Amino acid sequence: MSNIPSLVIMLMTVFVSVQVSAKGQKVAIASAHPLATAAGFEVLNKGGNVFDAAVAVTAALAVVEPSGSGLGGGGYWLLHREKDSFETLIDGREKAPMAAHKNMYLDKEGKVVENLSLDGALSAAIPGMPAGLVHLSEKYGKLTLSESLAPAIRYAQTGFAVGERYLKLLKLREAVIKKFPTSASIFLQDGSLPKPYSILRQPDLARTLTRIADSGRDGFYSGCLADKLVEGVKNAGGIWTKEDLKSYQVIERKPVTGIYKGIRITSAAPSSSGGVVLIEALNILSGYDLKKTDELTRKHLVTEAMRRAYHDRSLYLGDEDFINIPVKRLLSDDYAAGLRSTIRLDKALPSTQFSGEIEQQAEGINTTHFSIIDDEGNRVAATLSINFPFGSGFVAAGTGVVLNDEMDDFDSLPGAMNGYGFVGGIANSIEPGKRMLSSMAPTFLENDTDVAVLGTPGGSRIISMVLLAALDFAKGNGPDSWVKLPRFHHQFMPDLIEYESGALSDYEIASLKAMGHQLKQTPYPYGDMQAVLFNKKTKTLLAASDNRGEGRAFVAE
Ligand code: GLY
Repeated sequence: MSNIPSLVIMLMTVFVSVQVSAKGQKVAIASAHPLATAAGFEVLNKGGNVFDAAVAVTAALAVVEPSGSGLGGGGYWLLHREKDSFETLIDGREKAPMAAHKNMYLDKEGKVVENLSLDGALSAAIPGMPAGLVHLSEKYGKLTLSESLAPAIRYAQTGFAVGERYLKLLKLREAVIKKFPTSASIFLQDGSLPKPYSILRQPDLARTLTRIADSGRDGFYSGCLADKLVEGVKNAGGIWTKEDLKSYQVIERKPVTGIYKGIRITSAAPSSSGGVVLIEALNILSGYDLKKTDELTRKHLVTEAMRRAYHDRSLYLGDEDFINIPVKRLLSDDYAAGLRSTIRLDKALPSTQFSGEIEQQAEGINTTHFSIIDDEGNRVAATLSINFPFGSGFVAAGTGVVLNDEMDDFDSLPGAMNGYGFVGGIANSIEPGKRMLSSMAPTFLENDTDVAVLGTPGGSRIISMVLLAALDFAKGNGPDSWVKLPRFHHQFMPDLIEYESGALSDYEIASLKAMGHQLKQTPYPYGDMQAVLFNKKTKTLLAASDNRGEGRAFVAE
């Protein structure tokens, strides 16, 4: 790392992010980092389509926002191709190594060993992002993979200025990163946090990206890079094998869909719980006229819908390649009507009154999201993660790749709590080769006039954030409003409404308490929503980036 004057860096960043326009195409991109948004426009200018732009933005985020996602992680890309109305979800979620087993994070007494599934090589699952990038580019892009990865490779080689958000997240994981000399040599400066606007160069990561650009999935999942990964993980106490890497495959899944008040919702299918929980909550709420409901009752009803949908998350959801998930039933109108009938307008129903000993919390700072749409309606919503900020904190020597700690998203022990406070059951237990349950919810919303593309990081709160944005879309508001909305969240257990400052008035807090709700204000704002919108009638595009983050939304016309 090196220091250069902060003003120069800020000017450089602004310059890069505004000197972009898409040749002959109208396109909107919102991502968590200005350089990632710029990378998307750069490949559009080379003649790429929105899917090439998605490859570029994904790879750029892996370089310039290493706290949120990366080649050592995974994610979900939700795609829509307008000419044939084709929609698909690329499931690039990480998988448990084949040597994984249900007791791997327990001590001799059968108790969960603190942080074993969060820090270091044993917490890392087999990454899906490199395979996702290759698949997205080769199957849906127009450009070569190497053209679409070029901006990310350049950012890794020449470096970029680290911002305040980066430093805040790095501070949170500093102690873990210090444990691993390879990681510390990349992210720390003489063993300490770098200064704001220091330049982060990642030559090993540039070489790894170049390998993928040259050799596709083999550049990561076999050959000398795979050898380095496996050796590094094993020497640090992990359990990866070469076969784990070689056998990793992304899966294309049919997205889950639903209708709320004439709005078509399309979102992530399991292995993420995002789409199912979102649509189930909207189905419950579809029985009310929220536009005519006073604000207090509205918030109570939204909370009760969240409570019920998150409860089902814990009971039924996991990797559908391993368990049978009653998706059809969970998303049926009759099922929603049944749940609605248990809601009282004047009173909270405590979560302890539900069946199942299941719990779920969140810090809302990890993961990343971007949204892209063009003026034909082609679009991508992608939510990508390495789980906690800087994932496991572990980098295998010579790779530049921060490995995820996504194994923590499994339920290590039925009844025990993971990093988000989710306490799970059998559906999401650890099994070799299984994908751990996610909350990521890349989402499209569409009515007669508008198409919206949105999503956010935030652990278990992802789904409630997208739900609040969908309800705001239903009110007729645009992306600027969705990303700014003050947020509140309920995830069944802990039985608590968590809310940002400003999300509830004093009157609402007192009244919700009187109805039996417990409430807790979050110590800081959460989420980093990235959203775009296309108006089909006027052919106009809008884009907005969450003011809580450092992202950049841009429309090129
Ligand atoms: N690791 C966060 C999620 O998958 O929801």
